[in-house]
Amino acid sequence: MPILAELPRLLAATAVVGGYAGLCLAILLRARHAASLQVPGSGGGGGVVLIAYASQTGFAEQLARDSAQALRSAGVAAELCELGRLDATRLSAVERALFIVSTCGEGDPPDNGALFARRVITSTAALQGLHYGLLALGDSSYTRFCGFGRMLDDWLIGNGARPMFDRIEVDQASDAALCQWQHALGHLAGTADLPDWRAPGFDSWWIRTRTCLNPGSAGAPTFHLELEPADGAPLPLWEAGDLVQVLAPGDPQRPREYSIASIPADGRLHLLVRQQRDASGRLGIASGWLTDAAALDEPIALRLRPHRNFRLGDNHTRPLILIGNGTGLAGLRAHLRARARTGDGRNWLIFGERNAAHDCYYRNELEDWLARDLIVRADFAFSRDQAERLYVQHRLIKAAATVREWVTGGAAIYVCGNAVGMATEVDAALGQILGDEFRDRLLAEGRYRRDVY
Ligand SMILES: Cc1cc2nc3c(=O)[nH]c(=O)nc-3n(C[C@H](O)[C@H](O)[C@H](O)COP(=O)(O)O)c2cc1C
Repeated sequence: MPILAELPRLLAATAVVGGYAGLCLAILLRARHAASLQVPGSGGGGGVVLIAYASQTGFAEQLARDSAQALRSAGVAAELCELGRLDATRLSAVERALFIVSTCGEGDPPDNGALFARRVITSTAALQGLHYGLLALGDSSYTRFCGFGRMLDDWLIGNGARPMFDRIEVDQASDAALCQWQHALGHLAGTADLPDWRAPGFDSWWIRTRTCLNPGSAGAPTFHLELEPADGAPLPLWEAGDLVQVLAPGDPQRPREYSIASIPADGRLHLLVRQQRDASGRLGIASGWLTDAAALDEPIALRLRPHRNFRLGDNHTRPLILIGNGTGLAGLRAHLRARARTGDGRNWLIFGERNAAHDCYYRNELEDWLARDLIVRADFAFSRDQAERLYVQHRLIKAAATVREWVTGGAAIYVCGNAVGMATEVDAALGQILGDEFRDRLLAEGRYRRDVY
C-alpha cells in the first residue's frame, strides 16, 4: 500500500500515542508533585527523620532499625528513638517522623511506649509542624487490632500533625503491608531503589536432644530441646534474652516464637517447649512438630530473632530479680547461664509451676546454682501443692521488703512467661510494692523488662 495513502492513519496513531504519553507524564508529574508536597524534604534534602518505635518482642524495633538503615543508605539522616523517651516538647520541634509501633496486651502499648501513652497521649501538643508516617503492627486475631497504633495516629492528627501517607497496618508480619511501608520509605528518601530489608530467611537446624522434663505432671508435657545448625554449619551468635522463630511445615500462620534457654557458649540452642493441644486433642502445629512429629534428623526451619528489650544490656552488672512461670523459665535460664559465665551480680529467682514433684524444670541445675550462690535466693510458687492457689505474685508480695531493698540497691527485674495471669499480676504486685510511679520509671529506664506471651 502506498505510504501517502496511510499518512492520515499514521498521523492519527501518532497523535493518540503522543496524547497517551503526555497523559502518563502529567499523572507522573502530578504524583511526584503531590508526594513532594506531602513529604517535606523528600529526596534526601530535608533534615533528620526521627524514627520512634515501641516494640515488645522486637519486631517493630527491627523494622525501625531497617528503616533507619534504608533511609541512611539513600543519604537521608535518620535518628532512632524509643517512643517512651519522647516527650511533647521534643516532638513539637520535629518536622518529619516515622512511628513504628506494635500493640500488646489487649490493645495496649508495648512496655517501651507505655510512658508515652500515659504521659504524652493523655495531653495535648502543638504538632502543626510535624509530618509523619505510621506503621502499626498487630494481629487481627486480637479484638483490638493495632489498638495502640490507631490510638497514636488519632492523637497525632488530633494535635495538628499531618500524615505523609495513610497509616499502614501489618497483620502478623504480612509481606504486602511491609512492601507498602518500604514503598513509602522510598518516597521519603526520593528513590525507588532502597535495599531489600525483608526478614532473613530460615535456616535448617536439627534437634539433637529432646527430653520430657515433667513426666507424670498434671500439666501438658514440657520438653527440653537442644538444636544445632544442620550439616555442621557454624552456630550463629545470639544473646541471652533473644528468641527464635520456628516455621512448622504446613503452618498456615506465621512463625511461632520461643525464648532461647541457652547461650552460644553452651554450643547448642536450647528451647523449653510445652506441647499444646486444641480442644479436640489435636497437637498444636508448631509445638507438636517440635516435641513429637519432627524426627531428630529432620530439618527444622528456624531463625534467630534479637530481642533487645529482654537482653541484659546496661543491666549486666546489676543484681537481677528473675520472675517467671512455666516455660518462661527458658528466658530466665539463658540469663542465669550468661551470669554463670561472667560472674556479674547477684541473682534472685522467683518461679512458679503446678507441682514441685513434677514441674521443677532443670531442678539439678537450679540446686547447683543455689549451692554455688549464683542464685542467692530462690522462691518457688508451686500452685497446687497446697489447698489455696499460690502464684509468683504472692511470693513477691510476701517478700515485699526484700524486693524494695534489692530494687533501691540497683536491681533490675526480668519477667518471662504468661502475659495474661502471671505478668499482669506481677506488674500489679510490683506497683503495690514499689509504687506505680517508681515501677513505671523502672520500665521506662529498662530496669524492668518483660518477655511475655
Ligand atoms: C501478649 C501479646 C498480646 C498482643 N496483643 C495484641 C492486641 O491487642 N492487638 C493486636 O493487634 N496485636 C496484638 N499482639 C500482636 C503483636 O502486636 C504482633 O505480634 C507484633 O508483630 C509484635 O511486634 P513487636 O515484636 O514489635 O512487639 C499481641 C502479641 C502478644 C505476644
